[in-house]
Amino acid sequence: MKNRRLHSLRLRSRYLHNLCSRSLRLLTLFFLIAALTISFNALAESGFEVGNKEFILNGKPFQIRAAELHYPRIPREYWQHRIQMCKALGMNTICVYVFWNYHEPTPGEFDFSGQKDIREFIELCDKEGMKVIVRPGPYVCAEWEMGGLPWWLLKEKDIRLREDDPRFIAAVERFEDALAKELKGLTDAEGGPIIMIQVENEYGSYGIDKNYVGKIRDTLKKNYPETVMFQCDWSSNFTQNGLDDLLWTLNFGTGADVRKEFAQLQTLRPESPLMCSEYWSGWFDKWGSNHETRPATDMVNGLEEMIKNNISFSLYMTHGGTNFSHWAGANSPGYAPDVTSYDYDAPISESGAPTKKYYELRVMQLRNSFAQLPEIPDTLPTTTLDTITFTRMAPLFHTLPQSVTSDSLLCMEDLDQGYGSVLYRTRIPSSETEQELVISGAHDYALVWLDGNYIGKLDRRYNESVLMLPSHPENATLDILVEATGRINFGRAIKDYKGITGFVAIDGSELNGWEMYPLPDDYDFYASLPLCELQNISKSDPGLMIGDTDKAGVINNGSCLNNYTKLYSLSEDRLPPGVYRATFNVTTPADTWLDFSSWGKGVVYVNGYGLGRIWETGPQQTLYTPGCWLKEGENELLVFDVKGPHTPYVVGLETPIYDVVKEELPNDYGRPTTIYNLDNCKEIASLETKAGEWQEQSFSSIPTRYVLIETDASDMRINELYLLDANGEQIERENWQVIYCDSEEKSGNHTADKILDLQETTYWQPGNDSPSPHRILIDMGTPRNLATLRILTSTNGSVTLRDPKL
Ligand code: GLA
Repeated sequence: MKNRRLHSLRLRSRYLHNLCSRSLRLLTLFFLIAALTISFNALAESGFEVGNKEFILNGKPFQIRAAELHYPRIPREYWQHRIQMCKALGMNTICVYVFWNYHEPTPGEFDFSGQKDIREFIELCDKEGMKVIVRPGPYVCAEWEMGGLPWWLLKEKDIRLREDDPRFIAAVERFEDALAKELKGLTDAEGGPIIMIQVENEYGSYGIDKNYVGKIRDTLKKNYPETVMFQCDWSSNFTQNGLDDLLWTLNFGTGADVRKEFAQLQTLRPESPLMCSEYWSGWFDKWGSNHETRPATDMVNGLEEMIKNNISFSLYMTHGGTNFSHWAGANSPGYAPDVTSYDYDAPISESGAPTKKYYELRVMQLRNSFAQLPEIPDTLPTTTLDTITFTRMAPLFHTLPQSVTSDSLLCMEDLDQGYGSVLYRTRIPSSETEQELVISGAHDYALVWLDGNYIGKLDRRYNESVLMLPSHPENATLDILVEATGRINFGRAIKDYKGITGFVAIDGSELNGWEMYPLPDDYDFYASLPLCELQNISKSDPGLMIGDTDKAGVINNGSCLNNYTKLYSLSEDRLPPGVYRATFNVTTPADTWLDFSSWGKGVVYVNGYGLGRIWETGPQQTLYTPGCWLKEGENELLVFDVKGPHTPYVVGLETPIYDVVKEELPNDYGRPTTIYNLDNCKEIASLETKAGEWQEQSFSSIPTRYVLIETDASDMRINELYLLDANGEQIERENWQVIYCDSEEKSGNHTADKILDLQETTYWQPGNDSPSPHRILIDMGTPRNLATLRILTSTNGSVTLRDPKL
């Protein structure tokens, strides 16, 4: 009985157990299926994709409102602050370039640490809930040294940059692979913030080469197989290199007609979401030109139009920051080096403060789509600094490093040097008369001395190449100090060698037998030079150096010369070229602007951090000095000045000086002074312009080297001008030069060269009140057969092309 009961109990418990475990299993199965269904649905709806006329994020329409920020242009300590500032402006995405040369200083050696830690930057964006668009080049433009390409590529003299040259492509792959390793796990497909990757950059202003652009796409696709890829260009040329499997986006700036910009794209790809991948908030400054600004209202109106029409955008720049160290590039055609500040007249100022543009934009965003936005982060404090006096210096000519000797000239790249200056020295035979010295291809600013006496300078911006040498004895020492101001970052001229890139000749005979002293732009190098004391400094007498203090034993057999002010100085009222050092005390570190308006031309370091270039020519006279690079107590300032300061002082200001141009431009930007008779030149073609639309006029082919552009309209604005040959091919404009212009509106930077600068937003405008007709004379360098005039203007009027028969 007992056993039976036991047995039946066991059976029942087994039954119950079975029942329980069956229901448990069923329950588990149920939950599993439910969970799978939920996560499958979530999966199907998660992530970023390109939908029909719109972007989709997690299953919902997503308008990209991106803020362009460049981490190398912002001190790392401030990254998060700037990202939060963008967030409070209603932005949902951060768009970022990757500068190849910043991360690969020597071939195969990568640096993604500290200030270069792109991963950290993107993770901070993610932390702030921002999506990220990465633009990894390899070329980026961006007013950055060589458009982001590393200088060492130029060591192969015949390398074809941004083309299907195996050497270039292999170097690109090596870099892009290293970058992809750094960004591992950060793409949208991997659960990270990166939603899009850009392929190359505005290739249309470089060439037409789908094969090359395709290779860059393949390299990036291999690394980011599931990320949306796009390419950007201008509305006038985006079809030339447009690849079928990439999204096409357009770049244009404040003041553009948004509807017109997208018209062609909408016809060609009616299903495509629209995006302005660079909407320029302001513009960049060049040394010697006026400060650029763009009206806040125009910028905001353009953005509002895009928001209302569901057009995505990236505001370039939302915060520009600073071209620290030697990273500022140069614009072209011609040579127009960019200043150190990249303030860009952007909504967030160089020091991270909100501007009028910022507030207007925030109000517009609130009005349009946001009930509220995050509070604007606190603005970081700024401070003044009392006069800092430079008490020590290393006079360049008495502290020269080891030289390299060679019979023929070597350019900077041949000397295995990327940035900085080179001193070229040779001895020359005697002459009792004045002689003509020609230095061809001095890149970019050359200073010449004969036996220690300053002769003059040659400025590449004005194509200067000739100086007169006074009579001199046998074996006189000719010194040519050549400073590199920044490699060209735009157009074909990016293959921009530094140092002396041509030849040096006296009265027609070429010089040889050179000693070359490399002066790399490197804090450790400058800091290693032996210093003398600077004494008796006053405004009227800029100082004398005495004694063999410090490591001065290296100089002049143990004692400093006591009259450097004369020797090698550019003028009586300047101290000689060299390294200047000051120490100063700070009680509470805060952002400041160091005023270098009494200095010449060079580079500045604070506590070893490169603050960037200075140049008395302006418009920038102050250097942004981040408080996070200063410390409580003693700080060090070090300046390498190739011209020498008038007075070796600086003060710290609370606000920047961006707009004081001190230089009178020579001969209308170095144009020949020849007076041409341009009346009654034969008409080749004439056309009616339409604001914002390219116009073409063909004519029967005519051979000529010079062309005259003429208009009667005093308010005419010509943005770009091309000439085509009989085969419809655009004639390349690299060697074109404006050799005469009757008048130009200089205060707004609307000079004649703007019609050739490859920038559709800049334009030439005749000067106010100047009499008609208004004329620009162009020398194409060699005779060409012309058959078509193509022109873009931003006003209506008529333009005539004439043959000046020069
Ligand atoms: C172009 C480039 C950018 C930048 C801007 C001008 O659009 O793509 O990198 O150079 O011009 O600031």
